Amino acid sequence: FAQDVAAGKSSFNKCLACHAVGEGAKNKVGPELNGLNGRKSGSVAGYSYSDANKNSGLTWDEATFKDYIKDPKAKIPGTKMAFAGIKKETEINDLWAFLAQYTAD
Ligand code: HEM
Repeated sequence: FAQDVAAGKSSFNKCLACHAVGEGAKNKVGPELNGLNGRKSGSVAGYSYSDANKNSGLTWDEATFKDYIKDPKAKIPGTKMAFAGIKKETEINDLWAFLAQYTAD
């Protein structure tokens, strides 16, 4: 899995302008992404979500994340995340491997 995580880290460069993850991660344009696996959508304290994201009823896990990141506006209509998504299955898998390393603080 080491290779996947490394590729996922580099894919995360596409997210870095808006998201932080890892020790000391703060909310930026978007919420911090620690502990994403099992986290309820719209639940990061101190981050001001859109109603669409807040009320989506999703819990982030491998399946919901992969579906979301393919086409964020399709999964959460009305999201304020201005990102077209990632279409390549392998890149999505690597990104999940990278993000899933970071448990809740
Ligand atoms: C929300 C992941 C790129 C801005 C989210 C959420 C996830 C996520 C999982 C939902 C968080 C939650 O419910 O707590 C990612 C990943 C990205 C990426 C993995 C790169 C592949 C970006 C970029 C931007 C951005 C480039 C800014 C241009 C936002 C914003 C929200 C958000 C503003 C909150 C949406 C709302 O409240 O409607 N992102 N994101 N994201 N993201 Fe991203």
